Amino acid sequence: MSAIEWLNMLMTFVIACVATVILTPFSIRLAYKVGAIDIPKDERRVHSKPMPRIGGLSFIIGFFISTLIMFLLCNIDRTVESIDVNIWGFYLGAVIISIIGFLDDINVSEKGLKPIVKLGGQILAAICIVISGARIMYINIPFLEMYGLNDVLSIIITIGWVVGVTNAINLLDGLDGLAGGVSAISVLSLIIIFVLNGSAAIPLIMVSALLGGLLGFLPYNFNPAKTFMGDVGSNFLGYTLAAVSMLGMAKTYTFMAIILPVIVLALPIFDTLFAIIRRVVHGKSIMEADRGHLHHRLVDLGLSQRQAVLVLYAIAAIFGIFAIVLMESAAWKAIGFIGIICILALLETKNIQIRKRKGLPKATVKNFSDGGKLRVMLVFGTRPEAIKMCPLIKELKKRDDIVTIVCLTAQHREMLDQVMDAFQIKADYDLNIMKSKQTLTHITSSVLNGVYDIIQIERPDIVLVHGDTTTTMAAAQAAFDSKVRVGHVEAGLRTYDKYSPYPEEMNRKIVTQIADIFFAPTENNKNNLLKENIDENLIYVTGNTVIDALKTTVKDDFEFDHPVLQELDFNKKIIFMTAHRRENLGEPLHHICEAVKEIAEANDDVEVVYPVHLNPAVQEVAHEVLDGIPNVHLIEPLEVITTHNLINKSYMVMTDSGGIQEEAPSLGKPVLVLRNETERPEAVTAGTVKVVGTDKETIVREATKLLTDSYEYEKMSKATNPYGDGNSCDRIVEAIRYYFGITKKRVKDLK
Ligand code: UD1
Ligand code: UDP
Repeated sequence: MSAIEWLNMLMTFVIACVATVILTPFSIRLAYKVGAIDIPKDERRVHSKPMPRIGGLSFIIGFFISTLIMFLLCNIDRTVESIDVNIWGFYLGAVIISIIGFLDDINVSEKGLKPIVKLGGQILAAICIVISGARIMYINIPFLEMYGLNDVLSIIITIGWVVGVTNAINLLDGLDGLAGGVSAISVLSLIIIFVLNGSAAIPLIMVSALLGGLLGFLPYNFNPAKTFMGDVGSNFLGYTLAAVSMLGMAKTYTFMAIILPVIVLALPIFDTLFAIIRRVVHGKSIMEADRGHLHHRLVDLGLSQRQAVLVLYAIAAIFGIFAIVLMESAAWKAIGFIGIICILALLETKNIQIRKRKGLPKATVKNFSDGGKLRVMLVFGTRPEAIKMCPLIKELKKRDDIVTIVCLTAQHREMLDQVMDAFQIKADYDLNIMKSKQTLTHITSSVLNGVYDIIQIERPDIVLVHGDTTTTMAAAQAAFDSKVRVGHVEAGLRTYDKYSPYPEEMNRKIVTQIADIFFAPTENNKNNLLKENIDENLIYVTGNTVIDALKTTVKDDFEFDHPVLQELDFNKKIIFMTAHRRENLGEPLHHICEAVKEIAEANDDVEVVYPVHLNPAVQEVAHEVLDGIPNVHLIEPLEVITTHNLINKSYMVMTDSGGIQEEAPSLGKPVLVLRNETERPEAVTAGTVKVVGTDKETIVREATKLLTDSYEYEKMSKATNPYGDGNSCDRIVEAIRYYFGITKKRVKDLK
């Protein structure tokens, strides 16, 4: 090759690369504008944050700019093996296939484009390639004669090749940097093969532009990715790779012309072939996406995204090198090719799963006394967990020696977001698992899978979970599976009744078995843990972090901006009420609502405010029984700062909530607990909380007593605070630092 040809390739590469680097941030902004955002909503998706997904636009434009400059301004020879290649045919196909991908990325129709539309677009684009003059003209099968194809067969095979490679690259696009990196490696191999092959100028310019674009894009796409290339990118990539490999090999009328591009692209091609076989064998549609691709398998083996991608890069590089060697030394070809297929087939087998457990690291407590940073990951997903973990996040973030990672499971959605907004905390990960009327099994399996993946990416030194939700239990299990330490915030609460509260009592017991360090809110909680043979040295009495939260949220001059609360006459007796527990759903909740109805109708100096939990099973009953009663206000769940201030301005509280039993006493408000037992006996002992159950008559009787008997009311409304002094978060953080050897001083228990 002449120096000028090398220079042309270099210029194309640089222009494409620089243009892509500049354009990618714009593609990210555009993605937010047009709604091209990938939400991690199913287990196939390994990422955990919403992700812009039209990054491919940048390298497409980079490719167009650089190649057009070369073709239009630099007098590049446009013939390939005496055929005048019509580059405009190629560009037209590229535009068509990119538009199809883009429409899919912006969710132009709710369920994405119909497979038939996508396939139609791909075939149309492939026809454009045929029109441009690039075609597979010969099929050469070893030991048989070379077959020159007739026109019809040649066109059909060419279209099949383009559509096949396009879909293969599309399917490979499942991990950060995977499709881009593997394609870049394949392109590099093609460049070497083309140069050795003495290929024409057009394919050399095109591969240089592709390589430049891909290398410009990878920094944005490699893990942790800032953007995905999207279908727009993978469609274009597959299409262009298919076209250039035909153009680059046009001179070679041997078996090599077919086999070398197939080897170079073996990873995507065979992964796709195996996917098709897998789906056919399992009787599924071949279009149905699954989690059986090679990259999924590697992640399931316990590799992080980054490790899995690097392994696949290595495999792609091995194929590339193999193709180059094959071109130079023909003797290898048959044996080597079969060998590679065997390796791929082997990787696909389930045997490899045996290595899964062995891949886990040993559970050791690292010592950070030498100044290393401790990685603390908090996992939570419901409203009360968020209210009690947000102050802890703020405390952790104050420490220079700690890296804080926040992972939401979003077992709750709206009710969780309200809290995150109120505390102005942004999560690093959001699994977004909530479904309407979700089952406990759904929550457990989604949290287990999702949190496990994030732990593999982040490799925290400790995972902190809170309380007793199903998120808590499954996140602790995922940490244990990864041999990562678990810290249990709000540990040691018990009713000793397996089914009440359900499933919380069992959740917290399981977490007690898993956890390595325990933050008990009260001495009583610590004693529960001691009874279960937990090592006393691992238990810290810290107080409850909800009291830390209350210190920042309650203000005497607070003004409500909720329309119902603005209208409320606070000279009347405000009863703040909530009810949502699973064991109360159905009959018990009916009785509770009937009781509230009777209390409201009998006392016109009372206003009941009931923010109704979003669970449809709660909504239905509450509205059925309580709608239309003028002094009962059923409203949507309130944001936490408003809630705390509303409790502060209320006369009394009726609730089956756990957290409210801790908040109301410290604000001096009597609480009637609408359950048959409580795991929070401290305030009962102090006299501000009474457990009244779910029987209608009992609830009415006890509420009426508080409304009419001022002696009873005074007795219960003294402010008492068994749940802490508002410094719980500081104690927890110091306990963690002590556990990991950052500080030598053990923090004192709350007295
Ligand atoms: C969960 C916890 C419970 C905790 C409570 C706090 C479990 C098993 N239960 O119970 O310990 O006391 O949170 O509120 O972990 N929903 C929405 N939007 C939301 C939240 C909920 O629509 O923001 C609806 C959904 O239909 C969801 C249903 O409520 O399926 C139930 O949510 P779920 O988290 O399963 O149970 P909770 O009763 O909220
Ligand atoms: N809460 C809220 N908005 C509401 C009702 C409650 O912010 O409309 C707060 C409340 O102040 C307490 C927490 O939510 O801090 C309790 O949550 P929930 O009752 O959902 O759960 P539990 O404590 O029973 O687990």
